[in-house]
Amino acid sequence: MDSIFERIIATDDIPENKSKAVQAGGQSILICHVRGKFYALQNRCSHAETTLERARFRGDTIMCPLHGARFDLATGAVRNPPAVTPICVYPLKIIDGWIYVSTQAAPLAET
Ligand code: FES
Repeated sequence: MDSIFERIIATDDIPENKSKAVQAGGQSILICHVRGKFYALQNRCSHAETTLERARFRGDTIMCPLHGARFDLATGAVRNPPAVTPICVYPLKIIDGWIYVSTQAAPLAET
């Protein structure tokens, strides 16, 4: 099935090493700008269900602000406990300075 992409936000609206929570397809999605790349992730930690909006980035991971679980930005796989379940990542593309996201999540990563 082809993915349907929604226009979400301009790339200029998310500075490097920052993120922004947006609503798309009835879900809260966190758009992250790290090391020159953009990622779209489920805006909810799989450990205790807190949002990831105040999360920090370390390398190619995002670190939950509550208990420090880390997830791979590209795949959602758990890289550090206490989380044991991956988070969803969403296909993203950039066209003419705009970020488009498909809310049809990619399959969960192996952890
Ligand atoms: S809520 Fe994210 S690590 Fe606990």
